[in-house]
Amino acid sequence: MKKLALLGAGNVGAATAQVLANRPDIQVEITKVLVRDVSKAREGISSKQLSANPGEVLDSADIIVEVMGGTGLAGDLTLKALQAGKPVISANKAVLAERWQELKPYAEQGLLHYESSVMAGTPAVGPLSSVLRGSSPLELHAILNGTCNYILTELEKGVSYQNALAEAQRLGYAEADPTLDVGGFDAAHKLTVLARLVFDPSIEWETVKASTKGIDKLTPTVMTEAKERGGKIRLLASVYPEGGTWQVKVRPVFLPLDHLMASAASNKNALYFKGDAIGEVFITGAGAGGMATASGVVADLLDVLANRPGPALLKQPAPVPSIQIEALEEI
Ligand code: NAP
Ligand code: HSE
Repeated sequence: MKKLALLGAGNVGAATAQVLANRPDIQVEITKVLVRDVSKAREGISSKQLSANPGEVLDSADIIVEVMGGTGLAGDLTLKALQAGKPVISANKAVLAERWQELKPYAEQGLLHYESSVMAGTPAVGPLSSVLRGSSPLELHAILNGTCNYILTELEKGVSYQNALAEAQRLGYAEADPTLDVGGFDAAHKLTVLARLVFDPSIEWETVKASTKGIDKLTPTVMTEAKERGGKIRLLASVYPEGGTWQVKVRPVFLPLDHLMASAASNKNALYFKGDAIGEVFITGAGAGGMATASGVVADLLDVLANRPGPALLKQPAPVPSIQIEALEEI
């Protein structure tokens, strides 16, 4: 039986333990679970499994699941496990986006698995690093943050911004620091991960961050005006060709009601990809929440148990096509 350690037992960690408890077909033992507060009871995890000692947790297992968040200790422990040759399953898009240069050598060895880091358990990393590589990319647009999408959907119903954010936190959608969500940075982390897989492997976090706007400056008037004009506002993450380079940006946009991306409501995410040979592809599903994310973590675990490597990295930038893409109205 393979031994697995969880770094974190919050929304995603606790849900992962719960999903695994209901999957007798998956032969793993959860040895230790890293938390800050070992005195707090966690459903489905015994007090004997809890530890606040990172070294003890890493040493206890062959497979490490990083679901603790943050870019400091989480990144250091991920690297320590990878340096010891242990596969790491990470839901932490912040570490993936911001500490990629350190992680990349291990990702090249196939030791890093991160399906759940983007769009939770809804497929995104998998298709963009495999089947969709059969086409040269033309453009990608995506709703990548469940908290913002939930808040925007609630605002449309007349719920206040503060109440909508508080509910997104209660439902386990928001980051520990929700300014990452509403400031657009979480979507930008995820877009960085996706863009490196299909457009340009050398895309830097700081470049994407500099082209990021969130929903925190939207006023109720803007939302009302969008409704009166027969549309919706959504936080859109995009990669598209312009001026001979790939533009990578996150910003709120106005979408007519019949726009494909306007169909994703609440905590749903959506991904639109256009490739030269395949044409248009649209994927949508839950993008946040403990159970939806645990599904992606468990999918990665099945790959690890079957000795399948993590996503194959893109070797060189995709050619930038000279095409005009449909303009979107930025808010
Ligand atoms: P969370 O509820 O805040 O849980 C974090 C867990 O990590 C807690 O159990 C916490 O321990 C532990 N932890 C954090 N810092 C620690 C430290 N310094 N030392 C020891 N333990 C520490 O977070 P989450 O919502 O589960 O998210 C976890 C990760 O998954 C994040 O990277 C997030 O971006 C990513 N993710 C989340 C979702 C989602 O929908 N929530 C979806 C996809 C990806 P205590 O419980 O003792 O405080
Ligand atoms: N805070 C993130 C979101 C969690 O709302 O989309 C899923 O990555």
